[in-house]
Amino acid sequence: MARRFDGKVAVVTGSSSGIGQAIAVRLASEGASIVIDYRSHPEGAVDIQNQIAAAGGGKTITVQADVSKVADTANLIEQAWQQLGSCDILVNNAGIENGADFWNVTEEDYDAVLDVNLKGVFFITQAFVRKLRDNKKPGRVVNISSVHEDMVFPHFASYCASKGGVRMLMRDLAVELGPLGITLNNVAPGAIITPINKGLLDDHAKLDPLLRNIPLGRLGTSEEVAGLVAYLASEEAGYITGSTFIIDGGLIRNYHEQ
Ligand SMILES: NC(=O)c1ccc[n+]([C@@H]2O[C@H](COP(=O)([O-])OP(=O)(O)OC[C@H]3O[C@@H](n4cnc5c(N)ncnc54)[C@H](O)[C@@H]3O)[C@@H](O)[C@H]2O)c1
Repeated sequence: MARRFDGKVAVVTGSSSGIGQAIAVRLASEGASIVIDYRSHPEGAVDIQNQIAAAGGGKTITVQADVSKVADTANLIEQAWQQLGSCDILVNNAGIENGADFWNVTEEDYDAVLDVNLKGVFFITQAFVRKLRDNKKPGRVVNISSVHEDMVFPHFASYCASKGGVRMLMRDLAVELGPLGITLNNVAPGAIITPINKGLLDDHAKLDPLLRNIPLGRLGTSEEVAGLVAYLASEEAGYITGSTFIIDGGLIRNYHEQ
């Protein structure tokens, strides 16, 4: 039986762990060939490659790329075309956060977050689009932003600035790239169980009040996020561009009068 992503090639940044890993596995399980990007842990990437192969998923290659480096991101897209013959779907998932009181944030901390979360998304999307334009092909971009593209997160100002930037970048490019048949959308997770928030998961003093703020009463899973990404990357989502899709168990809507 034909699968939804048969014949499609997807690059998923930061796909050696967490949400990116689940997205790579999900797209591959529906037939996509995947470029698994890792920054510093090849063993994580190979592990996912093995998982996908064992489950009968699409073809995979692993490529080392630090998305904050423009040359690395161009190479990631180039490898997709050279080794897999195309690059139809780009999932900008790689991201980092650095918590600190605003008055203590250093230039180095700021650059680290903005370079991965915003500059990285900007330039890899540029490389992705150039190839599609030259080959006259349509494409899909799905950015993993955050509820904090819109919702405040005190002590994470650089993270909020980066994700708010990704929101506006996505909206702008949806208009500029629509005529090329390229759609762009954001998936904005709330609290998802992954390594990025290990500190939170282990700290009941912080976790319990958060859970009380989530109407569905639990954190989300990477697989739930991956399901939404798969929909937005599919043919069925062909008329959707320029939007953010929140996946947060109701967190962002949960305002109470005191
Ligand atoms: N987990 C959550 O609750 C949550 C909520 C909202 C948004 N997000 C977003 O989801 C995305 C994935 O995060 P996660 O929760 O899976 O955490 P994670 O730490 O498991 O994953 C982040 C991935 O990005 C990669 N990465 C970091 N810097 C990189 C770089 N310079 N180049 C290439 N890869 C790099 C890491 O190696 C890792 O694979 C991030 O963009 C994050 O901001 C997560």
